[in-house]
Parts: sequence; structure tokens; C-alpha cells
Amino acid sequence: METPYGEIPDRFVKDMTPQDMHDFLRSRGRRRFLRGAAALGATAFAGPVLWRQSAGLTATTPIGPQWIAFGPDPAAQMYLSWSAGTASVLGHAPPRPQVRWGLDASYGSSAAAEISKRVPVPATVPGEPAENTFYNSVLLSGLAPGTTYHYSVSNDGVTWSADTVCTTAAAGASDFRFTAFGDEAFSASTAAPMVRLVASLNPAFHLVAGDLAYATPRGIRIPDVAGFMPGHWDRYLAVAGPGGAQSIPWQASVGAHETEPLHNHGYAGFVTRLRQSYDLSSGSPVVHTFSYGNVAFIHLDGNDLSAQETVNNGYTGGAQTAWLSAKLAAYRSPGAGIDFIVVVCNCCCYSSNTRHGSDGGLRDAWGPLFDKYEVDLVISGHVHAYERTNPMRAGQPTRRVAAGETIDPATDGTTYICAGGGGNQLYRTWYGPTGSGDPGSPTMPRVWRWSGGDTASGGSGRPLDLTDTAIGYSACRRSVYSCLLVEVAAPVASGGQTSMRVQAIMPAQTPQAVTSITDPVIIDSVSLVRTAGTSWA
Ligand SMILES: [Fe+2]
Repeated sequence: METPYGEIPDRFVKDMTPQDMHDFLRSRGRRRFLRGAAALGATAFAGPVLWRQSAGLTATTPIGPQWIAFGPDPAAQMYLSWSAGTASVLGHAPPRPQVRWGLDASYGSSAAAEISKRVPVPATVPGEPAENTFYNSVLLSGLAPGTTYHYSVSNDGVTWSADTVCTTAAAGASDFRFTAFGDEAFSASTAAPMVRLVASLNPAFHLVAGDLAYATPRGIRIPDVAGFMPGHWDRYLAVAGPGGAQSIPWQASVGAHETEPLHNHGYAGFVTRLRQSYDLSSGSPVVHTFSYGNVAFIHLDGNDLSAQETVNNGYTGGAQTAWLSAKLAAYRSPGAGIDFIVVVCNCCCYSSNTRHGSDGGLRDAWGPLFDKYEVDLVISGHVHAYERTNPMRAGQPTRRVAAGETIDPATDGTTYICAGGGGNQLYRTWYGPTGSGDPGSPTMPRVWRWSGGDTASGGSGRPLDLTDTAIGYSACRRSVYSCLLVEVAAPVASGGQTSMRVQAIMPAQTPQAVTSITDPVIIDSVSLVRTAGTSWA
């Protein structure tokens, strides 16, 4: 049988996962190679051509890019990851991938990579070498909180990357800032300066709201590999890593463009490249949560429930939503030490942009939980623009909140922000008049909803793009490249007021390029306030 990975006998293929197919063909290819080598004789291997290639490959072995993410305990653990180049350059597994780290550039500690492997990619577009890229990773543990460490990585223990730094999460409640956007891709004229903008804002970490590399420009799955461009991941990491993700924990959610023709529900590439503290008890390989100070962050997989992007619809069988409910209850339980809850996912529960509209699949499944547990902020992407809603409860805005005003999420409701201006081509047309110079439309906002019930809940419906019943939710919207900057002020004592200042930062730009990151403009700002230490009975 012809599979996306090559020809495999029928008696084998019926029980094979995509990973099995990949491993089978790779091992068969290796056996054929060895048989051919034996026929040539040992002298052929000692010949000058192969010797020259080997020496040249070693000399040009690339190190990096590098990227990092918080470990299970952000104050004490950090994932360090790096690429060891592609087989077209490296030609073999890195012989001794390892990292050294310490409080200064003399390091003092070292460890071998715990993971060094490739992503099994089916036969695909010629010239896409990502299947041969080795991705390496180490989890550093036992680190001190709020401490900057120096690190350097190597593929062979001889040649090392330039000295790089990373900083663990501060212990306990503290002031800190984080940034967020999604929908990046790897354009030198937009994504690259947006990464530099993030770095210039000096966040403790950066939240990625999905759609990173766009290796699947449209939704596809096995055996549909047409258009799959896994090499985009290396292009993306080469933009995000240097000066950005190599020192700023890159806390990533999956987007609609992270479902790839690979095993593990299409996420084999994502979890291999981006090592994070995934919580498999969610029923998903890509869902994770962490806390920093008095704020809990929950990275969800909207592909499970989206009524618009349906490739992975229902794959957790409701497990993710059950997990979300339990996590929210835990974060709101007495003694949890959490004041604010921030959810990150890709598709928007509320969007008045004409390109996608709102996703009722997510809204209907998770909105009631966001209401019940008073989720403070939901950050999404998918729509390549900026939009903030008025605070929402039960599917409607509770009051209008202009830029510069303050929101009390416990009484006002949840604020939803689309931060999809991370670098990919912008979506410029909106429902209704915009007042911002962006084109509007007389059509009422639309929402994707299931007809007959979503498949996750046992329904057999199909998604429909309907006129939305949520009225007047959009508070601010701009079709611009922008970055969310959130400054969290920790309270000094329980009972005091704690706050998050949420700002949308816009660098100088044309429709096609970010032209300068110096002196960016604040295009929107709200403050979220809560009484610190408030627990739920
Ligand atoms: Fe996108």
C-alpha cells in the first residue's frame, strides 16, 4: 500500500500508526543502504569522497536556533531546546548534544540532552528538509527562583553556542509583566521585528496564542499531505529564537495551523519541537497550565471544539473540557494563591472580523465555565488583528468599557482579547462601522455554530456560519501588527487590591511591514482589578 511515507506491504500497514510507518520505512531504508555498502566493499567507505563529506559536515554543523519554556515548576525548572540543523547539512544524529549552565559564563554544570530526535514527516514537497532536523532538549531542575542563568548548547561537546541567558520565575507573589500574541509565521519584515518588540518589552515570558509556523497553510490530515511544508518550522524557529525565545520562555498554544499530517492527533511535530509541561490528563497532548505569582495560565486546544476549524473536532471526547473545569475549580479553591486566571487558545469566542467571525464551538463549551469561575482574561489569535471585547457574562456584554477604564472581572465578567497581529498577513475587514479607518461592513457579526450538536457531545451536526445573537461586544478593534503587554501588580497583603494592566502595543508599520519598534504606540488599555487572596468557599 502506498502511504504518505512510502510503499508498505498491506499486511503491515493495517495496524500501523503514522509513527510506525515512518519508523518502518526509515529502518528499511537503513538496511538497504547497509546491503548496498557491503556490496561496494569496505574500501568504498574509506574512499576520499565520503571522507571529505564527513569532514565538511562536521565543520559546518549548525547549533541552534534555541528556544526555552518553563518546566513544571517555573521557579525551579526550565526546558532548554535547540535545533541541530538538518540532515542535508548534519547528515547524522548529533553525536553528543548537551548543555552547560551556571550563574555566569563560566557555567559549572552540564548535562546531556534528554531528547534528540527528528519529527517523522511523510513524503512531501521536495526541498523540505525538516524531517531530518534533530531537535534537542534538556530540562534544567533545581534552579533558584527569580534567578538569571547563563547557558550554552552543543551538538558534539566541542563547538558551543554563544553564551545565552534565561531567568526562572520569581518566588511567590510579585510584580511582573508578560507579553502575548499569535499568528506569527516567519516574515523578516513583520514576524522578526515583532519578536524584537517582545524582547524590547522585557517580559518574564511570552504567550503564543497559536498559529506559529504555518506548516499546514490549510487544515489537513493523513493521508492528505498536499501543501504540508514542515520546513516552515525551522524557518519559524530561526526567527523566534535568536534574541527572543532563546531567553524568553515561549509558552505556546496550538492553533488551527498546528494540526499536521502526523501521529499524536497531528501534534507530533509540535510536541517534539516545543517541549513544555503538557498535562496529558487533559486528554490532549498539547494542553498545559502553569502559574506565575498570583496568576494562573491555561493553554487550551481549541481545535478540539472549534465549530469552524473542524479537523480535530471532538478528539478528546470531552476530556479537555472536564479537565478545564477541574483546573478552574482548583485555581479558585481556598489557599490556591491565585487571583487572576488567564486562558490562552487560538480561535476567538468573540470576533467581529469578517474573515472568521466568532467560534461558537468554543464559546458554547467553555463560556459557561469562564463565567462560573470568573476567568479574568481570554487571549486568542486566529483572526490576524487586535480586538478587545467588553466584559462578558452569559454571552452578552455587561457594560461598555472604553480604553483607559477599569474592569472588575468578579462582577463585570470576562474580557476576551484577540491578539492575532503577531506577524502574519492582517485581516482588515470588520462587521459594522469601525471608526478606526479599517473597512467595515453593514452585515451583522457572524458566529460559527453546530447544527444538531457538536461531534464531541455525540451530535452529528455540521458547522453553520450564523448571525450572532451576542450584541455590542466589540470594544476596540484595529487591523494592525500589535503585541499585548500585561503588567501584573502583586498585592502586599491579602485583602488589598491587585491588578493587571493590559495594553495593546503597536509598533510603527505599513500594511506590509513593521518599520520600527522604537517608541511603539499604546492603542488600547484596560485595568483588571481583584481583591487579593479572595477564595471561594
Ligand atoms: Fe493565523
